[in-house]
Amino acid sequence: MVRSKMGITTYISRIKVRRAFLLFTVTFSIVATILWIKITNNKTSLDFFYGTTIDGEDGIIYKHTKNLYTDKPSGVILVTYRRGGSSMLGEILQQSDDVFYIYEPLRPLYNRLYRLKQPVRWMNGSISAPGTYSLSEVHKQTMDGILTCRFSILYADVFEEFQFLKYGKKTRAYVECVSNMYLSRHDKLQDIPSLQKSFKAGLNEPCVMHLRSMCLNSKIRIIKTVRTPMYMMDPIYENIKSIMDLQVIHLIRDPRSIVLSASVMWKRFNVVKEVTKPAQATCFMLWNDTITTPHISVPVMTVYYEDIVTNPVKETIQMYRYVGMDWSNTIVDYAKTLVHNRNLSDCLVCKTEWHSSKNLADARNTIGTWKKDLTLKEISTIQFYCFKTLAYHGYQIFNQLQRVNASSKANTNDESVVNINAINELPPVP
Ligand SMILES: *[C@@H]1O[C@H](CO)[C@@H](O)[C@H](O)[C@H]1NC(C)=O
Ligand SMILES: *[C@@H]1O[C@H](CO)[C@@H](O)[C@H](O)[C@H]1NC(C)=O
Ligand SMILES: *[C@@H]1O[C@H](CO)[C@@H](O)[C@H](O)[C@H]1NC(C)=O
Ligand SMILES: *[C@@H]1O[C@H](CO)[C@@H](O)[C@H](O)[C@H]1NC(C)=O
Repeated sequence: MVRSKMGITTYISRIKVRRAFLLFTVTFSIVATILWIKITNNKTSLDFFYGTTIDGEDGIIYKHTKNLYTDKPSGVILVTYRRGGSSMLGEILQQSDDVFYIYEPLRPLYNRLYRLKQPVRWMNGSISAPGTYSLSEVHKQTMDGILTCRFSILYADVFEEFQFLKYGKKTRAYVECVSNMYLSRHDKLQDIPSLQKSFKAGLNEPCVMHLRSMCLNSKIRIIKTVRTPMYMMDPIYENIKSIMDLQVIHLIRDPRSIVLSASVMWKRFNVVKEVTKPAQATCFMLWNDTITTPHISVPVMTVYYEDIVTNPVKETIQMYRYVGMDWSNTIVDYAKTLVHNRNLSDCLVCKTEWHSSKNLADARNTIGTWKKDLTLKEISTIQFYCFKTLAYHGYQIFNQLQRVNASSKANTNDESVVNINAINELPPVP
């Protein structure tokens, strides 16, 4: 036998050498890995490297769904609802320089072209007459064209929605470019809508070209939309998956607050409406998107408006990490200031007439105000249409008895225990 020939001393010393070599190799690999991590990633800590891990201090589990080291650009669609706090969410997420953010690019398609049966003018110079295009195809193509910066497949009105384009940092630079390029000194930015030059000049128009280069240079492209249902995410992803990743952030808010916010706005504009229709519409969308979520392949992070306004720092960090973006103290402070101190001086969209909370001292105060500001009948109507949504997302059903206490309390955001059967005690739905 080989071993007996070798002799026991030689055998042991060979093992020692082998062991030492193994130890050296392992140590070297570990040191090299740590150095590599330090060199390649001087901003973030080890937890980024391992993908899914726990961030010690606050105990939050940060789940990464994407590889932060790929060069692939990433698309993020904010699936949101009118009066749901979506402007605030978008404003927080667009603070990173890596982001190209666009605010409601489908509005002209739905509110004007489709409704008023106007032709669709494409950036490639073609025109589609009403009835010759499919609304959902144009919708999908719009998302695709923005996420991939393929502006040639977009409809021209995307570049002429100057009011909404002002709400994205980079799209605002485009509005300013158009304004400098085409408006005389006497005209104001507000007068731009009468201008149609961007379409006529097409893709070679200098401001459009500059916007496109800003898009291409941004690794993360974010679309805020109240018009894109969850079931469209997979079809959108299908078209773009060879060149980029796609993720969804789904923003949920208590539908009673959503309807209250809508009714506050109607009053401002002197429109009298009752809550049935908005409750029905809101909760239909919320519910359909909620039950669709587990069945799609695009990853979805569900966030709650109430959590964001309560813990803006924690929520901001969680969302940034989910998307795979670096965050800074400046970004986190901005989110906190926006939500708690309500310094809106840098947030253009927050100051608009239709942001009814703009005069609010602290956005936390919007939680639970519906308990005082809606009538009992209104609350019961909304709860009737929103029962499943409320229950699924952990919002408590409100009953008549609690109201006595709610109105007498300064803080309406109480966590009173509610019997789910209380729904049976509510007044009948109109
Ligand atoms: C322009 O774009 C539209 C929509 O993508 C398409 O239907 C049309 O065929 C294109 N026209 C040309 C000339 O490429
Ligand atoms: C609801 O979601 C499903 C997919 O889960 C979709 O097929 C359906 O069209 C949606 N309904 C409406 C009316 O949006
Ligand atoms: C609000 O923020 C702006 C810009 O960040 C700053 O210049 C201003 O002093 C702030 N205002 C208040 C009242 O804190
Ligand atoms: C109202 O508040 C009082 C004291 O805080 C409590 O004892 C009572 O149970 C409350 N009533 C309801 C209906 O929640």
